[in-house]
Amino acid sequence: MQLLPDSWPPARRWVQVALINLVVAALLGALMRYIFLWEVPGVEYRNIMHAHSHGAMLGWVYLVLFTGYVLLAGPARRVYTYLFWATQLTVVAIFVLFALQGYSASSIAATSLHVLLSYVAVALLWPDLRRRLAGTVALPYLLAGLGSIVLSTLGLWALGIIMSSKPPNMTLFYLAIQFFLHGQLNGWFMFGTLGLVVAYFEKQQLPLNRPRLRQAFILLLCSLLPTYGLAVAWAERHPAIYAVTALGVLLQLLGVVQWLRAVWPALQQLTARLAPLLRGLWAFGIGSLAFKALVHAAVAVPYVAVMSFTVRNFVIGFVHLVTLGATTLTLLALLHGQGLLSLRGRVARLGAWLLLAGFVLTEMLLFLQGLMLWLDWSFIPSYHTVLLLATLLLPAGALLLALRAARAPASTDPGAQPLPQYAAHSPVSANGSADTAANR
Ligand code: HEM
Repeated sequence: MQLLPDSWPPARRWVQVALINLVVAALLGALMRYIFLWEVPGVEYRNIMHAHSHGAMLGWVYLVLFTGYVLLAGPARRVYTYLFWATQLTVVAIFVLFALQGYSASSIAATSLHVLLSYVAVALLWPDLRRRLAGTVALPYLLAGLGSIVLSTLGLWALGIIMSSKPPNMTLFYLAIQFFLHGQLNGWFMFGTLGLVVAYFEKQQLPLNRPRLRQAFILLLCSLLPTYGLAVAWAERHPAIYAVTALGVLLQLLGVVQWLRAVWPALQQLTARLAPLLRGLWAFGIGSLAFKALVHAAVAVPYVAVMSFTVRNFVIGFVHLVTLGATTLTLLALLHGQGLLSLRGRVARLGAWLLLAGFVLTEMLLFLQGLMLWLDWSFIPSYHTVLLLATLLLPAGALLLALRAARAPASTDPGAQPLPQYAAHSPVSANGSADTAANR
């Protein structure tokens, strides 16, 4: 088994860059919650939201998943390094242009460039992964993640066509945006994260139920398109659309249950030897995945479906349950496990605790207030101020993590294993020690 060579520290730098993107996105998120309380002259809320959502998805999650994929595919190819930095340039442009102009010719051009670079990444990673991970149970998940990138971006191209027609059909505009969001969150983020987790468990030789993991994969894949029905139901409340959505969310729930059953012994074995912070990250990361599948399954009931897209708090709570909980927290735990981000030092530990606390508090506030709005009760006292205060924990936590990223992990980090890879190079770990069972 090849471990992350000492000569390849760029991966830690890449993670740091992705974390800086998370800091910027989180600051923009906090700014939006500030604007709910006090107006900021010259700042357009919608533009900040577009900068935030595009930057977080394309700058944080995309780049951190890309890093994980490249390490599995073999970092030896220089082209991946060029691709990373070219993509980061487009992310900087996306943040700046969306914040200043919202949807404009130049912000759309920057996003299109990101999308084209992601196609190059898919074209390179696909054969590399197939070669290196042949026969592993992680491979289908990882490939489905790549396929979802291409699928979801069809929504963005459609957006261009819809906007160029005069006047643009706003229902189609909404459906195209939702298609992109759905493909990213439920496709790329989910399959990418689950694939990296399974690859990590496989290489750690933790106990996995492989047939069940394959079953879970088929169920999750089959659920991907029908679950988009929830967005369509907003525009067209036809019983057939509710039925397709109900089928999709039930398949997804079954898939998540099977996935959890397949990895449960591995998770237990892994987390038993970890510090409380890492156990918390795994628990809330994987817990968010399970909760997301449950909440999604509830929309099989049409009454709940209407409620879910009527109350904005539920939409925002759900989006961040997936992006911050299931994706970000799980990826942080994984990055630590792979030796790409050390959560051992005091500053980094505090950062991760703040992020975890910020996530839990903001989600609780969003869902509780959403429920109160639906029931026609009033607001939680000082709701927007409390939400802003809880939100501030998120950029603070991400900043502390970004400051401490790129440092090599201490060899004594509990649960930190340099990233195992699949090529037959010398079995030497990041700190130069042999890859023996004792070292694991
Ligand atoms: C890190 C801390 C974060 C904070 C403080 C935050 C905050 C916010 C806020 C305040 C909104 C607007 C809510 C509204 O208008 O009612 C929002 C929307 C959104 N956020 Fe975040 N967010 C964070 C992380 C993320 C991440 C990591 C992602 C994706 C990877 C993300 C994706 C989105 C999306 C897609 C929307 C728009 C949803 C829609 O249009 O319906 N956010 N966020």
